[in-house]
Amino acid sequence: MRRLITFVARISGLGCMRAAVVAALGLSMASNLYAADITVSESSFSCIQDWTKVRNTYIKHADPEKLKEAVRIFKNSVQDKEYPVGTFLQLLPNEAMVKHSRQTFPRTNGWEFFDLDLSAQGTKIKTRGEQTVNFQGVKCFSCHQPAVNYDFVCEKGHGCAPVPLDDQKIAELQAADPRCPKQ
Ligand code: HEC
Repeated sequence: MRRLITFVARISGLGCMRAAVVAALGLSMASNLYAADITVSESSFSCIQDWTKVRNTYIKHADPEKLKEAVRIFKNSVQDKEYPVGTFLQLLPNEAMVKHSRQTFPRTNGWEFFDLDLSAQGTKIKTRGEQTVNFQGVKCFSCHQPAVNYDFVCEKGHGCAPVPLDDQKIAELQAADPRCPKQ
């Protein structure tokens, strides 16, 4: 009997061990997934003029090498190339696109769309996600979708319907970002 008990104890000990290994593997896989993505909060946004400007668009990445890569893709309109995870793009100060891992937003290659509320005190996030709409109630992604060969970055000539603002108006809105220090 004693033998049987030790035997059972051994088996269940092994079982526990296996469960622990499986749990540890699962955890490390989850944390790998998590590590591949980024966290975006209101403090991730700031005066748009502090970012790197290419044509009409401001670009930000916390990692200087990845910023360089994002600027290169944007500047040369490189096709079929994804922006690095962690890339922030802004055309208008109150709208932004941020690149997550593909797993986070599979339909948009990982892009999350933001509608922001700005003041001298900083940034408030009004809406975020894949389904965000612009000031006219049009879904951001519905307009950006035709630029599928450019990782959904529209610029001019990537197939998106134009924004109802000319370049001068866009520049004026960018210059009027209330988060920027007064000149
Ligand atoms: C009417 C179609 C349309 C809608 C709706 C729209 N966009 Fe765009 N977006 C464009 C076009 C066109 C450009 C390129 C403008 C330019 O560079 O002159 C652009 C540019 C941008 C850029 C700069 C990078 C790029 O793709 O060229 C960002 C960031 C952006 N839009 C985010 C958003 C967000 C966020 C929303 C929703 C809140 C949104 N857009 C809604 C058409 C649209």
